[in-house]
Amino acid sequence: MGAMMASITSELLFFLPFILLALLTFYTTTVAQCHGARRWRPTKKKRPNLPPGAPGWPFVGETFGYLRPHPATSVGRFMEQHVARYGKIYRSSLFGERTVVSADAGLNRYILQNEGRLFECSYPRSIGGILGKWSMLVLVGDAHREMRAISLNFLSSVRLRAVLLPEVERHILLVLRSWPPSGGGACFSAQHEAKKFTFNLMARNIMSMDPGEEETERLRLEYITFMKGVVSAPLNFPGTAYWKALKSRASILGVIERKMEDRLQKMSKENSSVEEDDLLGWALKQSNLSKEQILDLLLSLLFAGHETSSMALALAIFFLEGCPKAVQELREEHLEIARRQRLRGASRLSWEDYKEMVFTQCVINETLRLGNVVRFLHRKVIRDVHYNGYDIPKGWKILPVLAAVHLDSSLYEDPNQFNPWRWKSNAPSSFMPYGGGPRLCAGSELAKLEIAIFLHHLVLNFRWELAEPDQAFVYPFVDFPKGLPIRVQRIASEHSVLTNESTAM
Ligand code: HEM
Ligand SMILES: *[C@@H]1O[C@H](CO)[C@@H](O)[C@H](O)[C@H]1NC(C)=O
Ligand SMILES: *[C@@H]1O[C@H](CO)[C@@H](O)[C@H](O)[C@H]1NC(C)=O
Ligand SMILES: *[C@@H]1O[C@H](CO)[C@@H](O)[C@H](O)[C@H]1NC(C)=O
Ligand SMILES: *[C@@H]1O[C@H](CO)[C@@H](O)[C@H](O)[C@H]1NC(C)=O
Repeated sequence: MGAMMASITSELLFFLPFILLALLTFYTTTVAQCHGARRWRPTKKKRPNLPPGAPGWPFVGETFGYLRPHPATSVGRFMEQHVARYGKIYRSSLFGERTVVSADAGLNRYILQNEGRLFECSYPRSIGGILGKWSMLVLVGDAHREMRAISLNFLSSVRLRAVLLPEVERHILLVLRSWPPSGGGACFSAQHEAKKFTFNLMARNIMSMDPGEEETERLRLEYITFMKGVVSAPLNFPGTAYWKALKSRASILGVIERKMEDRLQKMSKENSSVEEDDLLGWALKQSNLSKEQILDLLLSLLFAGHETSSMALALAIFFLEGCPKAVQELREEHLEIARRQRLRGASRLSWEDYKEMVFTQCVINETLRLGNVVRFLHRKVIRDVHYNGYDIPKGWKILPVLAAVHLDSSLYEDPNQFNPWRWKSNAPSSFMPYGGGPRLCAGSELAKLEIAIFLHHLVLNFRWELAEPDQAFVYPFVDFPKGLPIRVQRIASEHSVLTNESTAM
């Protein structure tokens, strides 16, 4: 989701010359003639008390300032200056629309909780073009509820324990076993490894595609092209990233469709006892979704479940590298868990083991608070709203900026410091990395599980350091410009499951 917001950036960059031209024409033909005309005056109705702010330039408004890249652990200069000048709720003109920006914890919660009543999810149209019109991220109302119910079933706590936990661990071991065995100085991209892990996990659980197989690899590469299109201008002619992405979308859908037909064939045979417990099987069995709906559902879950959690994982690896004390405390927690596991004679982590990862959860929360994988959400005002003395008119866009709240010094002490210990006291209600209300992230429990189990095996088996300085930036999707290059060293450990070939899968 972080990524999709970026689409508008390049969209606007492309249109800029035209916009400037239009502006010039507009000025010379209209404004110049009207010079000296009286200011527009509101008629009968009382003038609404809009939040303060400036409209910026015609057409583009303040979009460029808003989207200017900045380090992920900060809110960026635009936000700082606007909040200092206008307060935490201000109006602006962004993405060609009149917009209210909210850096206010209370208003953000109010927006998310009133989804469908006062506000409605409203992502740019280009997103629908790429993810599909049945994608959960663009659907609203009943259609959204139905798709969401299927996803929630797929990600239920029962399945999380019984199916997803062992799957997550298996995919983590596959990735970690491929890392260089000793500190020979080999350096590689941690972000790339994190993406490989989450992609393989999702491909496996969505449609039973196994990592390493040619078809899976092809799909993964196709998916990278696809992603580039999601973050580019929606210009559909040969050669553009958007055009390539639409072609990628078509070939990804082709793969999914083939899988679907194979499955339907299998299911129609009498002895269909070899049912596959994946999302595809579920979607086919449990509902009467159309083929098109199933394709978009699978594609959007692949998207939602892959980009965000891999970025969160990369950020955790990054923050921990700069905080040896936290690594030490993590290692102690996980050594204790590994010890007990050994006493039990188990070779795999259990749900009870996972529940013991208490400090790890603090590290995860702190990573999401400081790194803010999803910076802000897109919403539309569907009914006139009155909030804290401000009038927010129907038809405007409204952006709850989650990151601005998480980095607010009146809510978090030393907000730019990575300090997992702050989570040892109660979590503040202003913390909403997964959104909230009826669209609360469907995969948050899976995301936490992925990061916790990854950290378990990481701290037990490796030391790591940055091979080159790198830092996460907001483009506005979060990304490490160099891919977070790290160098690792294996820790000789009696608890290591990496070197024990007899436990290999
Ligand atoms: C750390 C990782 C993650 C973060 C920070 C995150 C964040 C979010 C946020 C903020 C939303 C709300 C979007 C909106 O309201 O407009 C969302 C929605 C969603 N996320 Fe996540 N997410 C993460 C991981 C995942 C994973 C692993 C999955 C699936 C396997 C997933 C599936 C979804 C789905 C399906 C939705 C749409 C929910 C709906 O519209 O009802 N997410 N996520
Ligand atoms: C059912 O499965 C068995 C082997 O498991 C196979 O020999 C047989 O041909 C299958 N029957 C049908 C109708 O596919
Ligand atoms: C499924 O079928 C029922 C009854 O035919 C219908 O009411 C419902 O809208 C259908 N759902 C979808 C997603 O098509
Ligand atoms: C982490 O944040 C969640 C909210 O997303 C909260 O429910 C949980 O208690 C927090 N965990 C810790 C250890 O503070
Ligand atoms: C390696 O795996 C085998 C079989 O699962 C187990 O008996 C043995 O204790 C393991 N060794 C280590 C060092 O974990």
